[in-house]
Amino acid sequence: MVNRGKTSFFKERRRIITVLSIIVLIGIQFYRPGKNVQKKSLYNDFLRNEKAPENIAELIKNSCYSCHSDYTDYYWYDHIAPASWYVDNHIKEAKSHLNFSKWRRMDYRDKRANLSRIVTELNEDKMPLASYTIMHPEAKLTENEKKKIIDWLYTIEVR
Ligand code: HEC
Repeated sequence: MVNRGKTSFFKERRRIITVLSIIVLIGIQFYRPGKNVQKKSLYNDFLRNEKAPENIAELIKNSCYSCHSDYTDYYWYDHIAPASWYVDNHIKEAKSHLNFSKWRRMDYRDKRANLSRIVTELNEDKMPLASYTIMHPEAKLTENEKKKIIDWLYTIEVR
């Protein structure tokens, strides 16, 4: 008798917790960060201004542009809070360091510094972020692909 009472108390509590969690999960969906998808313009774009060959452009777009440009390629789960908040933070932070969509507007010194930072990040395997490639394995770069990108970066003459 006593035992049965206990079980139903725990069952009841579990049900309340489940219902509350669902309410919270639905509730937080109403706070939506703005989408990082601006009106498409390639005027200031890095790959276009530096005339990246097609294969290199494809690699960099796939691996870096969702965080470091004005055009994020969202997946359906990126829209679901709290993942959407995490994604939004990453994009804001990434763009504050480097935004490929604003390349043409950077001055000569910023461009040079950024090129050398990109090489360093690639060489040290820091980018794309590991937390990103877990969810987007196709963004991971092979040694050979990294080498191709770096070789091309060295050919850029900054103006
Ligand atoms: C998931 C988002 C994401 C992706 C994808 C990503 N980055 Fe980043 N990147 C960040 C964040 C966040 C920072 C700032 C914090 C840090 O340095 O870890 C950053 C910083 C940088 C910096 C500045 C480092 C410094 O010393 O200031 C460079 C350069 C960079 N990333 C290059 C790249 C390149 C090149 C790629 C593609 C191969 C790439 N990133 C892909 C999120 C990303």
